[in-house]
Amino acid sequence: GGSSYTGHPSQFAALALREAAALLRAGDTVAFPTETVYGLGADARNTAAVEAVFAAKGRPSDNPLIVHIARRGQLDELVQQVNGTAEALIKAFWPGPLTLVLPVKPGVLSPRVTAGLDTVAVRMPDHPVALRLIAEAGCPVAAPSANRSGRPSPTTAEHVREDLQGRIGGIVDGGPTGVGLESTVVQAGDDGTVTILRPGGITAEQLAAVCPAVTTDPGLAGAAGPDAPAPRSPGVKYTHYAPKGRLSVVEGPSPAAVTGLIRRELAVAGASGERTAVLAFDEHAADYIGQRVYSLGSLATLQEAGQRLYGVLRRCDEDGITFILAEACPPHGLGAAVMNRLLKAAGHRVIRAEETRG
Ligand code: TXA
Ligand code: MG
Repeated sequence: GGSSYTGHPSQFAALALREAAALLRAGDTVAFPTETVYGLGADARNTAAVEAVFAAKGRPSDNPLIVHIARRGQLDELVQQVNGTAEALIKAFWPGPLTLVLPVKPGVLSPRVTAGLDTVAVRMPDHPVALRLIAEAGCPVAAPSANRSGRPSPTTAEHVREDLQGRIGGIVDGGPTGVGLESTVVQAGDDGTVTILRPGGITAEQLAAVCPAVTTDPGLAGAAGPDAPAPRSPGVKYTHYAPKGRLSVVEGPSPAAVTGLIRRELAVAGASGERTAVLAFDEHAADYIGQRVYSLGSLATLQEAGQRLYGVLRRCDEDGITFILAEACPPHGLGAAVMNRLLKAAGHRVIRAEETRG
């Protein structure tokens, strides 16, 4: 098994766990399901294997990878120390969609994994296939999301095939993923503070129930302007998920103001020849009769929006949509991660509806 993607001219092998683990041990790349999104895995100690991951994705080499482990004991082999705050978070949320940025132990991981930083991002996924694959491979598994760089993260094996067929050693198909958005990336201070570097599957409210001093990296707010600090998570600065059509997010003082503005804007765009669609919550579906609607599920369970968002963005491209409006959701709980990804996909284009009169 060659470790370069050029060694995989066309095959997209659906692998059994045991074969997949053998490929990882041999320095090849394998896509596998986690509870968040599909990852593209490689032995995190093997520089050629890690380079093959960057090559297959077309990922900038200054964007470090998350290392996936299957047992708590593996963590101590990778990092210098785990402070009390981090330990409390691990106890509460592993296995699960929480990634911890910790001081890296020198000389164990390929330097390409950390992109030259003195920290490493580690998580233990809550998915039986991922856990068994990592355990059987017997190595820490570096795995970014298994999409081409700039595409929405894959939530099905089919999405991985669309992006990476012919570029990787194979895939373990575990069906659709559960959370649908990536893990929450945090840094935990010795003083009990927790900084969210990337919102994700574990909410700020869940973190605060364990460690009350939770803040969000000020570099995260994408609309923050030229004077904003650089984000501490390097990947956050890249444009991601952008559909080919022009996507804007619509927010406003009431649902009626939002749906009214969306109806008017879609009519105007449609009249000028745009192929239009709306990303809407089910509570408002009846307001868009005659429009192409992609459902984000119910506002009452934002888990559905998380599960569906990336698939819907891919569908917009498949369906040749050129003009897309998306309803905003309240940025609380999982809504923080949904809005973060939606705003990134929209290049932070937001239209604010005025209150409707009469
Ligand atoms: O749910 C997930 O986290 C998925 C699944 C496959 O586990 N993985 C994932 O990986 O989303 P990726 O590579 O697409 O995103 C990793 C994020 C990037 O924003 C990266 O910059 C950040 O984690 N990151 C990695 N190492 C870091 C470090 N040492 N310090 C700060 N941020 C780091
Ligand atoms: Mg990614």
